[in-house]
Amino acid sequence: MHGAGLALIFLPWLGAESRAPRGDREADPLIAEMVGALTLERSPGRSFSPDELSLCGHLSTVEVAEGLTVMEGAVSNNIPGIDADCGGACACSTCHVYIAEDWVEKLPAKEAMEADMLDFAWEPDPVRSRLTCQIKVTDELDGLVVEVADNES
Ligand code: FES
Repeated sequence: MHGAGLALIFLPWLGAESRAPRGDREADPLIAEMVGALTLERSPGRSFSPDELSLCGHLSTVEVAEGLTVMEGAVSNNIPGIDADCGGACACSTCHVYIAEDWVEKLPAKEAMEADMLDFAWEPDPVRSRLTCQIKVTDELDGLVVEVADNES
């Protein structure tokens, strides 16, 4: 638990050319390093090497009140790439993210409406893609790590 809210961690979309193919995302070394750096960040008393600091610069950690959606937390903290054009009505897919592998199983299952709308998202991943407007922030999701999709393509 961090201060007044629950922590959500957003990784930016880094561009297709700098990334492993979609099927190899779990093995993407940059993402693994970023999440590793974040884990270190959450260990009290740990200081960073210059490399770790530069990786942490790519992460956005925000605090969100329980009960809001991940999308609301992203929009209120100006996270780039979460446009939420439909305002959370599950009708646009511009709040699409890829959930970090370790967190996929901790999220409530998708409703049919979310699964249908993800078909219209940019490069949906059958396991990791979610719409952030459909995910409520709870204690269990404190520290959730998501990667913003390229929702503007
Ligand atoms: Fe439109 Fe999530 S905000 S689908």
